[in-house]
Amino acid sequence: MSDRPFLVLGLFQDADKLVHGIRALKSTYGDKLEAYTPYPIHGIEKELGIPKSHVGKIVLALGLSGLTLALGFQSWVFTTDYQIQFGGKPYFSWASFVPIVFEVTVLLACIVGAVFGMLVLVNKLPHYSHPILSSRSMPKITRDRFALAVSVDTAEDAARAEAALRQAGAPETEVVHGTDEIGSGPLLPLKPVLATVIICVLAGLGTWHLQRLWNKLPLISIMDEQTKVLPFRANAFYPDGQSMRPLVPGTVSRSAEYAAWTTPEEAGQMLVNPLSADSLTLAKGRRGYETHCLVCHGQLGDGTKLLSDKYTGAPANLHQARLKEAPDGHLFAVVTAGKNTMAGYGKDIPAADRWAIVHYVRVLQRALDASDADVQAAQAVAAAAPVAQGGSH
Ligand code: HEC
Repeated sequence: MSDRPFLVLGLFQDADKLVHGIRALKSTYGDKLEAYTPYPIHGIEKELGIPKSHVGKIVLALGLSGLTLALGFQSWVFTTDYQIQFGGKPYFSWASFVPIVFEVTVLLACIVGAVFGMLVLVNKLPHYSHPILSSRSMPKITRDRFALAVSVDTAEDAARAEAALRQAGAPETEVVHGTDEIGSGPLLPLKPVLATVIICVLAGLGTWHLQRLWNKLPLISIMDEQTKVLPFRANAFYPDGQSMRPLVPGTVSRSAEYAAWTTPEEAGQMLVNPLSADSLTLAKGRRGYETHCLVCHGQLGDGTKLLSDKYTGAPANLHQARLKEAPDGHLFAVVTAGKNTMAGYGKDIPAADRWAIVHYVRVLQRALDASDADVQAAQAVAAAAPVAQGGSH
């Protein structure tokens, strides 16, 4: 650090005197003036002629880019790259993009824009030191003195500035020596990176250690240590001396339902649809089909999938002769346990609903291949229906 005069400080007793001082020196020193005060003084930046900060513009620009980025990315993903059908909604469903658009906008605007914009671009951090920090006046400035600083280069400059400050009403002055250079050397720009790496490593180690510690904390072991019945232990409470209770008589296991058959063909021989194809059952079957099957097998059951080409499976056409002739039990078994690349729905759909879906598949099959008799029957139903329909609407 060189020893040339860098700043001359004039210490004023209060903010008003400081402002008077600024006004007196403004014409001579212009942008060489800077004020250091124990608390922010409203309007002082105007007196000093400091232009309005650019942080607002940075925040606006980053906020807008966050908005565009998030909206654009989601639009591209959902309309082009990976189309997924959600309950028949259009691929460009902008309302569902709002949360992510909002988050990314706020993230870029606040964290990147406001924090980094202010610290790095406007305040020019990292800035490791400044000569004023080691000046005699610094403790006073942080307490109850208001300093006006004039940047100077030479000893003559400093003497002139000191005289001017005293004339402007500063009872106390100090010449601060040093330079504002923050050092040099090849490692300098790496310092913030190095600091970040060290912080990350320390944070990682800390988290790792805390996690190991966490398991041993009494807070977490409460459930381990509580008095409770463990399944394979002896227990004097029950007459049979065991903790584990026997099954309630008559319990049927989940898998018993299709334990009796192994292939759809076998199930077709063994099982009979327990439901009648009444309108309630068909409505239930339709709901089930549209919820679980439609995306793959299509609205009409002809295998026209609604999924994008990313789904490479080839859902069966349910109108093929083999499936029309297959007994209900065959279809039920496919829905229950799946077949080849189709997954089973035994765990997701109750058995009664699976049988209802089978009925509805029959409706689809017959609707695409109706005989004259079917059409006449449907017309007869329609002719008789107005009364009933009128009543229900
Ligand atoms: C994720 C897509 C997908 C869904 C959802 C789906 N399937 Fe399938 N399904 C397929 C594929 C693929 C095949 C062809 C499997 C194969 O290779 O044999 C198939 C085959 C079938 C078959 C023919 C079985 C045979 O014996 O050849 C039937 C019947 C069937 N599905 C009914 C249904 C029903 C009913 C539902 C709704 C509960 C349903 N599927 C849901 C993809 C799907």
